[in-house]
Amino acid sequence: MTEVARVLFRREDIRRRTRELGRTITGDYEGREPVLISVLKGGTVFLADLIREIRLPLRVDFMSISSYGGAAESMGRVRILKDLDEDISDSHVIVVEDIVDTGLTLSYLRSVLASRGPASIEICALLDRTVRRIAPLEVRYVGFECPDVFVVGYGLDVAGRFRNLPHILAVEDVQAVTERPELLLPYLAADGQA
Ligand code: IMP
Ligand code: MG
Repeated sequence: MTEVARVLFRREDIRRRTRELGRTITGDYEGREPVLISVLKGGTVFLADLIREIRLPLRVDFMSISSYGGAAESMGRVRILKDLDEDISDSHVIVVEDIVDTGLTLSYLRSVLASRGPASIEICALLDRTVRRIAPLEVRYVGFECPDVFVVGYGLDVAGRFRNLPHILAVEDVQAVTERPELLLPYLAADGQA
């Protein structure tokens, strides 16, 4: 098979790092009951694993957003398609994301959430691609630093697909896999290593 993609973060490494993050959050929020907020849809796979590594009472909530045009024009402004179910005033909020890239979306979302009077807000991202950061953003909990390549799997999609890949792949040819998603099918099989 031609190399359109390669395994970048293995399932086992994601699991180990998620366990470490869960342990750290458990320590940091001892005696409190955080609300973990995930942005649909990419962050949900990570959220599902992360919450089972946190040994505290907690709540989860979800938001769905759509950006106005390209990130650069919109400066991260987003339209809220589905808002939180619960009030976050006086709550300790942890926003859980798959990847922070330019940071535009999350810095805007963070200001929206901050205006609702939470006791605290922190960000937990599985991947942080700091080389592409435009909006300054403090990401308190980071799984892995992500190189400047398009990634897919473990919640991350390419044209809506392949969120269910067990490992995170680096996609070398995004156009090829967008036009011909079947190129990634081998990575769905058995151990997901193609
Ligand atoms: P930004 O930080 O505002 O640039 O946007 C980050 C969002 O873009 C993430 O929540 C992802 O949904 C999406 N995204 C950024 N980079 C990738 C990638 O490499 N693969 C899949 N989705 C990505
Ligand atoms: Mg996302």
